[in-house]
Amino acid sequence: MNQSEEKIRIENVSKIFDIGKGNTIQALVDINLSVYNEEFVCIVGPSGCGKSTLLYLIAALDRPTSGRILVEGELVTKPNPKVGMVFQPDSVFPWLSVRDNVAFGPIIRGVPEEQVRWITKNYIEMVGLQGFENSLPRQLSGGMKKRVDVARAFANNPDILLMDEPFGALDAMTKEKLQIELLRIWDTERKTVLFVTHDLEEALVLGSRIVVMSRAPNTIQTVLDVPFERPRDLLLKTSTEFQQMRRQLWDLLK
Ligand SMILES: Nc1ncnc2c1ncn2[C@@H]1O[C@H](COP(=O)(O)OP(=O)(O)O)[C@@H](O)[C@H]1O
Ligand SMILES: [Mg+2]
Repeated sequence: MNQSEEKIRIENVSKIFDIGKGNTIQALVDINLSVYNEEFVCIVGPSGCGKSTLLYLIAALDRPTSGRILVEGELVTKPNPKVGMVFQPDSVFPWLSVRDNVAFGPIIRGVPEEQVRWITKNYIEMVGLQGFENSLPRQLSGGMKKRVDVARAFANNPDILLMDEPFGALDAMTKEKLQIELLRIWDTERKTVLFVTHDLEEALVLGSRIVVMSRAPNTIQTVLDVPFERPRDLLLKTSTEFQQMRRQLWDLLK
């Protein structure tokens, strides 16, 4: 597939919530954005600026009030199996083992048993959970459950992955470990990723572009290119260039 292929196209999208008694909330105002094949785009912006709403619209969990969204050239009207999601609360099934959680999507999609076994093994190893295949989610730490979540998302082989502050609830160390793992997985899998975070360093470490959103109006303020070479690791954070970009982002968000 061509890297210049447009995977997500957001055209003049606005979202107004009717909150009753004639009151409305302008959750998104005139959003225009294209995300191309194999891009890793991060979205940052203050709380309430519409980041989650935008992902919900792309995932077809809600509809824009005006404007339109295309995924792989098709108008978004219903949830698309090619679009995977990882949100902040864990979506792991508490009654299923790690192995069965990861295998769940492929089984539902009718992937042959032999292949399900291979996929499950592959992604459990990729997120470093080998040895925990039979564990139940309640026997795992928050970071490990997040790993299951990430493995589940990739095991579904989506073309596009929407991630809404997936590591937001984790402690700093666990978060860094998962960032490294996500970088590594993405280097081999090259999905198109749209990743929401309020952590500027996370956006700079992971993203190829950063969409900076503003609050009131809830719209795109600017889009930055992140020039750091790949493969990346967390040493990147110590470079002068990184710190300069961090400051630039910080100034934009102030
Ligand atoms: N279902 C909803 N009903 C009413 N208002 C909502 C709903 N979802 C989000 N909002 C409002 O829309 C705005 C954007 O919310 P959200 O997309 O969650 O922001 P972010 O994810 O950037 O913090 C906020 O003012 C929020 O209160
Ligand atoms: Mg949100």
